[in-house]
Amino acid sequence: MKRISFVFTFFLLVILACSDKSLVTSAEENLSLPNEPYAYDKLSLPVGSSIAGSFDDFTIDNNVVTFSNNKTEITPWGATLGRVLFYDKKLSLNNTVSCASCHHQEKAFADGLQFSTGFEGRVTTRNSMAIVNPILQNNLFWDSRSKTIHDLSLQPVQNHIEMGMEDLNRLVSKLENTEYYKPLFKKAFGTNEINPTNISKALSQFVASITTSRSRFDAGSINNFNNFSELEKMGMELFNSDKAKCSSCHGGGNMSALDGPNDPYGGGGSFTAVQDLRGATNIGLDIVYKDNGLGNGKFKIPSLRNIELTGPYMHDGRFKTLEEVVNHYTNGIKPHQHLDVKFTDGKGNVKPLNLNSIEKKAIIAFLKTLTDQEMTKDPKWSNPFRS
Ligand code: HEC
Ligand code: HEC
Repeated sequence: MKRISFVFTFFLLVILACSDKSLVTSAEENLSLPNEPYAYDKLSLPVGSSIAGSFDDFTIDNNVVTFSNNKTEITPWGATLGRVLFYDKKLSLNNTVSCASCHHQEKAFADGLQFSTGFEGRVTTRNSMAIVNPILQNNLFWDSRSKTIHDLSLQPVQNHIEMGMEDLNRLVSKLENTEYYKPLFKKAFGTNEINPTNISKALSQFVASITTSRSRFDAGSINNFNNFSELEKMGMELFNSDKAKCSSCHGGGNMSALDGPNDPYGGGGSFTAVQDLRGATNIGLDIVYKDNGLGNGKFKIPSLRNIELTGPYMHDGRFKTLEEVVNHYTNGIKPHQHLDVKFTDGKGNVKPLNLNSIEKKAIIAFLKTLTDQEMTKDPKWSNPFRS
């Protein structure tokens, strides 16, 4: 019961917002699914990463995670249904917006815009996020407000869109009146019944199945980086150095917050008093923040995987290029009471990174080795509707 109410509190708000006032269904579009579902229950993760939270039913062999199919968290048909829901505009007011409107596969599920237009033309106040190995994270959203990936029956997704509340029953009726849903719910959950809990479970199974682990960096990490240029190697060394400090925040196999599951310290280690337990910190973007994130101008330390594809950058999409981002760390950091100590001299003065232009180029060259082109084309995460 508890679990269900959690689902209601969080994830269903997204659905609620998306449900249509009318029960209009458009039969025109053409759903095309494989006869046998893709193996969403086998996830390929980066070397050296570990799953967030308390998933019980999986095994890891060679960085391939397999969920057991009896009591499972991700099933092939559950995630298949989730894929359809993710791309289906019927989840929105007036059938105009789907999750995929703001999360494009070819951009590692970001959308390339500073802000995005959601339901009824409402514009988001934050930059749409890439979806980067969410199963390795317990600090979802720019303010790290969701830790719910711990258990996939809870949700990786919360209400994050400007939305008006709608009657959830209307969404259920709408899906009931759409021919392809009943059979899909039956395959996913063993029953034709369409209900909010299963809608949200299926969506979160699909989101959780999205992994990226096939970049040039991943290839290099098992062959001594023979595939890297000198510049990329130099960038990688800098990235991991005390001089550039990047990996002290964007760390581990996922180049993301060294918090929780991904983090060897579990409360100690590289963790600073300034960096929040939820893997968020203040990097001196503003003297006065319009959006305070998790509080005190702290924002989620995002994964840098696929960063080449996911601009513009930062929670408000203020930087268009990686050059601008790196310049921020060298000469843009603003003083702030809660500025991460890694950027201060210990007496409260800003101490920016000292990187020359070759070093900046090298770091950016390295960041581009984190791009995973296979993930952006993998059919199992692609749009199943052909119009
Ligand atoms: C109108 C654009 C828009 C739509 C539609 C949208 N999102 Fe998002 N998404 C965003 C924005 C903006 C953020 C960051 C929000 C924040 O930090 O408050 C985000 C964040 C996320 C995250 C967190 C990623 C992370 O690493 O922390 C996930 C997961 C996600 N969205 C999944 C979904 C799903 C599933 C749907 C459909 C039910 C959806 N989104 C619909 C814009 C959108
Ligand atoms: C003290 C921790 C910390 C250090 C050190 C750090 N970062 Fe960040 N980084 C963050 C945080 C937090 C954000 C998100 C800030 C926001 O959006 O308000 C961020 C954002 C970014 C982004 C934009 C991500 C996106 O999805 O928009 C890039 C790129 C980036 N950092 C690269 C680097 C590089 C390269 C280095 C080393 C030169 C570095 N960072 C060092 C904490 C850090």
